[in-house]
Amino acid sequence: MSIRNRLLFWLLSGLTILGACFVLADYLIDRALLADIYNDQMSQIAFAIPADFSGGDLERNPPALKYDGDDSILQIWDQNGKLSYRSHAGISLPQFTTPGFSEVRWRDSEWTLFIRKTDHNLIQVAQSLSGRRNIALDHALRTLIPLLMFLLIMGLLIHWSVGTGLQSLTRLSQELAKRTPDTLGRLTAQDQPAEIKPLTHALDTLLQRLSVALEGQKKFIADASHELRTPLATLQIQTQLVEQSLGSGREIHALADLKAGVKRSSHLVEQLLMVSRLESAGIHDPHTRLQLHEIAREVIIDLIPFANTREINLGVEQLDAGVIMGSEHHLHILLRNLIDNAVRYTPSGGQVDVTIHARQDDILLEIEDSGPGIPAAEQERVFDRFYRCLVPQATGSGLGLAIVKQVAELHQAEVQLGQAQRLSGLRASVIFKRAV
Ligand SMILES: Nc1ncnc2c1ncn2[C@@H]1O[C@H](COP(=O)(O)OP(=O)(O)OP(=O)(O)O)[C@@H](O)[C@H]1O
Ligand SMILES: [Mg+2]
Repeated sequence: MSIRNRLLFWLLSGLTILGACFVLADYLIDRALLADIYNDQMSQIAFAIPADFSGGDLERNPPALKYDGDDSILQIWDQNGKLSYRSHAGISLPQFTTPGFSEVRWRDSEWTLFIRKTDHNLIQVAQSLSGRRNIALDHALRTLIPLLMFLLIMGLLIHWSVGTGLQSLTRLSQELAKRTPDTLGRLTAQDQPAEIKPLTHALDTLLQRLSVALEGQKKFIADASHELRTPLATLQIQTQLVEQSLGSGREIHALADLKAGVKRSSHLVEQLLMVSRLESAGIHDPHTRLQLHEIAREVIIDLIPFANTREINLGVEQLDAGVIMGSEHHLHILLRNLIDNAVRYTPSGGQVDVTIHARQDDILLEIEDSGPGIPAAEQERVFDRFYRCLVPQATGSGLGLAIVKQVAELHQAEVQLGQAQRLSGLRASVIFKRAV
């Protein structure tokens, strides 16, 4: 049911019930008031007749009034019990004797009587009770007409006012329907009722967030395609070089370059895929209880061959056991990126140490190296996507630390970069909450 019909239904139902109560109360009050007035009239009529009234000849002077249902009927009997006067033709009540007011049943209806006895006469004034009730009912029903008019006007007013109130909602939905991903600006909030303003405000905030998210996506796609263009162009040149060097004895060198190019491109694609997967992760990846030191050990074992090729001493300083809640796959990626960076950017003959400290409330993961480190001014920026420091060895995609940050956020962990304490290079630390 629409808001307008719902309001109309409830308000008009309420008003109709109130109106019915009002008519009923009016009827009951009128009945009591009329009983007082008519009783007064009846006793006045009875006392207006002289005490020695002798009446006339009923045959010659028949009653002039015609009974219409609610009249007061006056009848007088002389001391011999002979009816000497009656006010109405066609109706004649029997003689009753109780003086003063009384109620009697006659001919299946109830009557109110007032009887005055004098030395010469018995004066009886009678009025039908149903006649009195009809007058009260008539009166109460007459108040129904203004009431019905009131209901009609109220109905029209509600219909109109709700319609104008809802117009701003209709306008809002029309405006929203016209929006496209390129037009996500603020909604017009002029002449809006106070109730609609919070909705417009919430929609504005949502549109703003959407627009920021879309901008981010656009920038990411633009950057990604830019990043992909260079290795692909290089690959093209390298294939040409392989082609040209065929038979010249330099094939092995050219092929090695080509292999490295292919590897770099597929690494970039891997990292890009990881970034986009992490964007939609979180809700989909259930967190389970994990031993961080076991994952670290696996990653270190995986990376030892790479460290050996670079003549880096990859070792473990301390690996405390400690349980955290997390996604094993993502933590693998976090550790792999951090240790890979340390091994990759530390000059040959260097040292990389991995430490896990289980503390009171948290677990601290630290990776230190003896490499050049990252200047303090760049330690925040390296978490941006595609950001690489201007060092000769920096041949990566610039996505590793952005991925680390995303994974840390998914685990409500904190990542920090700084100066290594034991070794001379970089110290990357991640603080995880302990599982309870
Ligand atoms: N341990 C480190 N020592 C010195 N410089 C580092 C270290 N780790 C990262 N960096 C610098 O920070 C930059 C960003 O690192 P990040 O891991 O985000 O990207 P990448 O290593 O270039 O690419 P990817 O990890 O995607 O292959 C690197 O290019 C490098 O210059
Ligand atoms: Mg890296």
